[in-house]
Amino acid sequence: MNNNTWTTVTHPKRNRKKKPPSRESLHPKPPLSTSGTTSSETDISTLESTLRSHRHRFKSTTFAQDLRTILSRALHHLPTPENAPKIDHAVCLALGSLSTENLELAKRSAWQFVAFLEMCDALWCGSADGRGIKMVAQDPRFSEEDQQVLRRFGVEVVERPGAGTFVTARCFLYAPFLEQAVLLGEVLRGKDPGIYLGVGPESMRGWVERLDCVGDYAELVEEFGRGRVVTDLPGDFEFGGAVFEGLSVCWRLVEDEDEEG
Ligand SMILES: C[S@@+](CC[C@H](N)C(=O)[O-])C[C@H]1O[C@@H](n2cnc3c(N)ncnc32)[C@H](O)[C@@H]1O
Repeated sequence: MNNNTWTTVTHPKRNRKKKPPSRESLHPKPPLSTSGTTSSETDISTLESTLRSHRHRFKSTTFAQDLRTILSRALHHLPTPENAPKIDHAVCLALGSLSTENLELAKRSAWQFVAFLEMCDALWCGSADGRGIKMVAQDPRFSEEDQQVLRRFGVEVVERPGAGTFVTARCFLYAPFLEQAVLLGEVLRGKDPGIYLGVGPESMRGWVERLDCVGDYAELVEEFGRGRVVTDLPGDFEFGGAVFEGLSVCWRLVEDEDEEG
């Protein structure tokens, strides 16, 4: 494959038109639970059991099966570092608040969180070294309740910009609908995540052109897309409308490799 071009592999069955939602439409106001109130054990346990039940339901969806297939292709193609697993960290950005009183947003975040857990499981099984994957999450919107629940699922919560240090070639970077200014200005600059799930290079490029900030980001977007396979997620997630619509999974090809190989 020519290393100077992007390889886009769209989902064969259910490709949809990409239309990432804006931050304003998704988050009209901050979650009420960040206002200094202490979360009760009951609230935390209720949220935890809701997420466990979502996780159970998620596992049996066609969407989850598709995700596992995409990840196993990504793992297969990732270069193998010497004496190290292909992926040993998973960084979750932009989840939003799981405990916001805006139920539509909380639902999106819940499905996106269980998808993250499922993907970490798939990467762990696929890596076959048995060491597990360290999971880290960061979002300025996390409430105290969110943070406690995330820890119960084995996820370490870090303050901005701490997650950046974990974004390496052996990282799975999960950033569903992270604002592009943050993604390009803060997260991807100088970084090369092994596997990335978020808005793909085409959307990044469109955003750069629309906002006329070509000078700042165009080269970064080109560099990110170069030699990477881009696979669009299927748009029709059984339980959640557009929760994943417009997102892609990207991974780097080994030099001279063909994406079909
Ligand atoms: C457009 S919302 C997407 C929320 C959710 N993923 C969804 O699809 O509904 C973007 C999210 O990115 C978060 N965010 C902004 N800056 C961030 C940063 N530096 N690190 C992690 N998350 C960040 C915001 O707080 C917000 O929750």
